Amino acid sequence: MKIRQLCKSDIASIIELEKHHAPDKPHYVRYDQKTLLFIFDNPDDCGAIGLFDKERLVGWGAYRTNWSKYNAECGVYEISSIVVDTTYRRQGLGERILNRIIDDLKKKKFTKVYLTVSPLNLGALILYVKNGFIIYDYKANVYGEGADRVFLKLAG
Ligand SMILES: CC(C)(COP(=O)(O)OP(=O)(O)OC[C@H]1O[C@@H](n2cnc3c(N)ncnc32)[C@H](O)[C@@H]1OP(=O)(O)O)[C@@H](O)C(=O)NCCC(=O)NCCS
Repeated sequence: MKIRQLCKSDIASIIELEKHHAPDKPHYVRYDQKTLLFIFDNPDDCGAIGLFDKERLVGWGAYRTNWSKYNAECGVYEISSIVVDTTYRRQGLGERILNRIIDDLKKKKFTKVYLTVSPLNLGALILYVKNGFIIYDYKANVYGEGADRVFLKLAG
C-alpha cells in the first residue's frame, strides 16, 4: 500500500470515501469540495495524507493550524479528520495515517497537536490514546445541542 500527500486531483476520491465509509459523520466535521479546496490552496497551514491500495484511496487524514476558539493557544496543529474504508478497518491503516501526519508535522517543527472527537466514537478515542494522545477536556454542545466533544492533545 502506498501513502502520500494528497492534492486537488484527489478531491473526488476523498468525497467518495467520506460519503460511503463515514456516512454518519455529523455535518460539522464533514468535508465538501469547498473545504477540501481550502486545504489544498493553503499548503503552509493545512495538509492531507492518503493511503492507496493500488490506485484506490482507502484511507485519508487531514490537519490544519489555527486551533479552534476553545483553545487559547495559537500556532498549533489540529488533526481534523481520519477516515478508513470500512473493508480495510482494524488492519492498522488508521494508525499509519495518524503517525504519518505526526511525522509530517514534526518536519514543520510543530510544537503541539490537538484534536477533538465525539465521546460516542470509542474506536477513534482508543486509536488516538494508543498513539500518544491524552484526554484533557470535555465540552458539551460544542457544535450545537448534543454535539459534545472530547479534547485530546499529543503528549510530550
Ligand atoms: C477511527 C478509524 C479511523 C480507525 O481506523 P482503523 O484503520 O480501523 O484503525 P486501526 O486499525 O489503525 O486501529 C488501531 C487501534 O485503534 C483501536 N481501534 C480502532 N478502531 C476501533 C474500534 N472500532 N473499536 C475499538 N478499538 C478500535 C484498536 O486498539 C486498534 O488496534 P487493534 O486493531 O490492534 O486492536 C475508522 O474506524 C474510521 O474511519 N471511522 C469513521 C470515521 C471516524 O470516526 N474518524 C475518527 C474521527 S474524525
